[in-house]
Amino acid sequence: MNRRRKLCLLTLLLAAGMFWFVSANQIGAAQQPKPSYKNNNCVNCHSQLLEPLGVSSRYLEWQLSSHEERGVSCEKCHGGEPSAKDKEKAHVGVLRSSNPQSRLHWKNQPETCNACHQNVVSSFVQSAHYQRLKGIGLGPSCNTCHEHMATKVIYSPTETANLCAQCHDSINFIQPRPEIPARAKETMLALQRADAVVNWARLLLAEGRRRNWPLGVEENDLKLAEETLGEARVKWHAFNLESVRKQADEAYFRGVKVKEALRKRLGAE
Ligand code: HEC
Ligand code: HEC
Ligand code: HEC
Ligand code: HEC
Ligand code: HEC
Repeated sequence: MNRRRKLCLLTLLLAAGMFWFVSANQIGAAQQPKPSYKNNNCVNCHSQLLEPLGVSSRYLEWQLSSHEERGVSCEKCHGGEPSAKDKEKAHVGVLRSSNPQSRLHWKNQPETCNACHQNVVSSFVQSAHYQRLKGIGLGPSCNTCHEHMATKVIYSPTETANLCAQCHDSINFIQPRPEIPARAKETMLALQRADAVVNWARLLLAEGRRRNWPLGVEENDLKLAEETLGEARVKWHAFNLESVRKQADEAYFRGVKVKEALRKRLGAE
């Protein structure tokens, strides 16, 4: 390589470096926590971190979650001291989730989440999975399906079936039970179907309210549908697929009833 070429390369590298520096700082500046978090140093400091990437991306996942919306800050799950500005002091008691002593190790997640999600966890602990999780460490834990609490469940019906099949339909695992992944897929589809129709009914009801219609019956029916769907979501965590399917369908039929009644009225106007 001659000198000119070298110089050219150096200039290019410098330019790329500048670009990275400038754009990285712009991205950093965009992470503005809500004022309600101004005294929480976990949030303050982590919102400014650009590296390591694994840590920085976790902040964003949290920022997009309903936990952030509802004031569930880092220390509620990770422990540590949010009033300390110094990293070492703040991190006292914060262990990596791979450490079996961590509150967030997969074996300990049900207990940690139980502080706020008693209904889901009491359903989960009824399952054979929980017994196995506590024992030999087999079976899915909360983060298997919810990851880092990003907005929604990450498992689609197909992904859910694949997850269940990893253990239940594998020759080198427990006795093959192909009907478990198949039924899990249907159950997830039933939950999604009910969810879609309940949302539709909710939108039509809002339209009816704008038109000042009397809506006592529909409001009551929709409330029932929402409650049944909520119960189905909670019960899913016991992996009793039959009863979840039944409740999801019940919510679906109730939702359809409201939706159809309102559509008819909208058509008649
Ligand atoms: C002054 C800045 C600062 C504060 C305050 C702070 N952190 Fe951190 N945190 C970091 C940095 C930087 C890292 C990256 C790894 C390292 O340098 O230790 C990190 C890493 C982490 C990790 C990953 C640990 C690992 O080993 O990968 C977790 C979890 C974490 N912090 C949680 C918290 C919680 C919870 C709080 C509040 C109680 C908090 N942090 C407060 C700067 C901070
Ligand atoms: C609702 C509980 C919850 C909240 C709130 C929460 N986390 Fe986590 N966090 C977890 C769980 C569970 C894991 C481990 C599972 C995984 O890999 O996603 C984890 C993993 C991490 C990791 C990877 C290191 C490790 O220990 O595995 C980092 C970094 C992290 N969280 C940072 C944060 C920061 C920063 C906040 C606040 C801005 C926060 N978390 C809020 C539950 C939570
Ligand atoms: C300090 C209380 C608290 C803790 C601890 C907590 N959560 Fe939550 N979580 C909430 C609140 C509040 C909401 C929002 C309201 C609701 O849906 O109940 C929520 C919502 C959720 C949702 C629904 C998300 C959505 O967008 O619909 C999931 C899934 C969830 N949490 C999982 C977990 C898991 C897994 C853990 C344990 C690692 C955990 N949470 C720990 C308070 C908490
Ligand atoms: C096999 C996958 C799976 C596992 C494991 C799992 N969940 Fe869920 N979770 C789901 C599905 C599916 C839903 C329903 C989502 C929907 O319909 O929007 C859900 C919903 C939730 C909700 C919202 C409930 C509501 O009323 O809307 C919370 C909270 C929650 N899970 C917490 C947990 C906790 C805590 C654990 C661990 C004890 C856990 N989950 C384990 C798949 C899972
Ligand atoms: C990491 C392995 C693993 C995964 C993934 C897994 N399971 Fe399991 N499951 C087990 C083990 C182990 C048992 C206990 C078997 C026993 O005691 O005979 C079990 C038991 C069950 C049972 C009770 C079986 C019976 O005969 O009563 C059901 C139902 C079940 N799982 C459903 C599911 C569903 C649905 C999924 C996917 C969402 C799933 N499992 C994912 C390991 C797993």
